[in-house]
Amino acid sequence: MTARSTTLPWWKRGVVYQIYPRSFMDADGDGIGDLQGIIDRLDHLAALGVDAIWLSPIQPSPDADFGYDISDYCDVHPNYGCLETFDALVAGCRERGLRVVLDGVFNHSSDKHAWFLESRQDRDNPKADWYLWRDGAGGRGPTGAPNNWASTFGGGGWEYVPEREQYFFHSFLKQQPDLNWRNPDVVDAVEAVLRFWMDRGVDGFRLDVFNAYLKHPDLPSNPRTWNPAGLLYPYIGQKHLHDRDQADMSIALEMMRRTVDEQPGRFLVGETLDEDRRYREAARYAGDDADQLHLAFNFYLLRSRWSAEVFHKAITTWTAALGPQGWPTWVLSNHDFPRHASRWGGRWADARCRLAAIMAMTLRGTPFLYYGEEIGMAEHKLPRGLIQDPVGQRFWPIHRGRDGCRTPMQWDAGPAAGFSTGEPWLPVHPDHATRNVAAQQDDPSSVLSTYKAIIALRKHLPVLQVGDMALTESPHSAVLAYTRSLGDARVQVLLNMSPKAQRWPIGGERKLLYGTHPERPVVLEGGEVTLAPHEGLVLGNEATL
Ligand code: NOJ
Repeated sequence: MTARSTTLPWWKRGVVYQIYPRSFMDADGDGIGDLQGIIDRLDHLAALGVDAIWLSPIQPSPDADFGYDISDYCDVHPNYGCLETFDALVAGCRERGLRVVLDGVFNHSSDKHAWFLESRQDRDNPKADWYLWRDGAGGRGPTGAPNNWASTFGGGGWEYVPEREQYFFHSFLKQQPDLNWRNPDVVDAVEAVLRFWMDRGVDGFRLDVFNAYLKHPDLPSNPRTWNPAGLLYPYIGQKHLHDRDQADMSIALEMMRRTVDEQPGRFLVGETLDEDRRYREAARYAGDDADQLHLAFNFYLLRSRWSAEVFHKAITTWTAALGPQGWPTWVLSNHDFPRHASRWGGRWADARCRLAAIMAMTLRGTPFLYYGEEIGMAEHKLPRGLIQDPVGQRFWPIHRGRDGCRTPMQWDAGPAAGFSTGEPWLPVHPDHATRNVAAQQDDPSSVLSTYKAIIALRKHLPVLQVGDMALTESPHSAVLAYTRSLGDARVQVLLNMSPKAQRWPIGGERKLLYGTHPERPVVLEGGEVTLAPHEGLVLGNEATL
């Protein structure tokens, strides 16, 4: 190990695995995943070689937005267990060298949270100012929304409450009222929540839509855009000048950073609302000059079509926005987007999943892997009658919702894919009969084996964890190629993303560290290599190993 690799924190060197707790493993047979189920499957994660798990919300919730509406920040959803089960999970993770990251949903709470129940009672209670309350446009009473702000989940963003004769704002569902981060009591309360979980062993937080915490203090209307779709979906008919990315975001983030940094090795990764259009915003909070978040997500790859050229652009754009010291994150799938096996899939789904895995694990930055992607799990297209996600229920068929990427983990070919002994809350994908962990375990050419091998290689080689990265200067239509270097060690990654063979120049990297086609001898003599269709090679020089 070089000095650089040992001094950089684990969250830069490691791989984070996202678990959607409802769907990972059900230990008590009620059809809903739980913490004991996760404990039972920790050996899978240890064998996969990941460094940390990030749990989508585990706290009590009425589940209007399946956990992203929290009704008690300091407890565990009864469906998932209790605080003692959580402690056992942390202990199980520690035994296997795994860290634990929680979802921090602090832009909004549930409308059933005690804070909101108190806040909504009248205008004078101690929590009266903990949420964004305003008189209607025409004064007290149901006189119309205070401004034009809209909900990301459709419709207007204001809801009237007769007890207060006022409206409250919700960026998402009306069951998810936005907290008032300009109230110092809210800042203190969130700090207490962070401490509660850190005291139980939590190593970091993924901050849900953190850039929406602060709104303009006067709540002025947003300017409209000319997008005609705004007539149906007001949210995209506006320029979001006043309901996010406010200049004084530090009111929230300084407290969070200071609190989390009290102990080294903890980190914050922020999900930037709407970052696909504004990735520079994400960089603003976590790039070279930022001291607010340790990491920010960028979802460019989630929205890219399968193309070496497009990936090249995604990678160069995101890394340039972050600056040379900023640390990128890489996400291929998560709980809000159709799974990449289906986005990029078709007849080459497995080959593409394997190449994408190599890419995510060998680019400079921290990869976040979504449960099931290690076996190439596909999006499940559910009929309307089975849709549970509020987004799908509202926008069907324009948006089928997010249930398709949240179906149960496919452990084996048995009933309910080994996920549950009961009826799963969402139907398992019918391909579980052939696509499952057990079936891929011993197949060296499976997606799972690729993930294990490439994560193991990353773990073994400091150059893949912390080395500098240089992409080929101009994008190529078929091959994504880049080098990583650290001291004398150099690794070249060549990913042929096309169904045709490609010739590619090679330099001094003549050791085959990993290849997707083990049955094919790779000739590394002369100045070129021939890449088979959909072949990926990771090559190293003499100093690499
Ligand atoms: C972003 C989360 O990823 C999504 O699942 C959730 O619905 C919204 N934020 C609201 O919390």
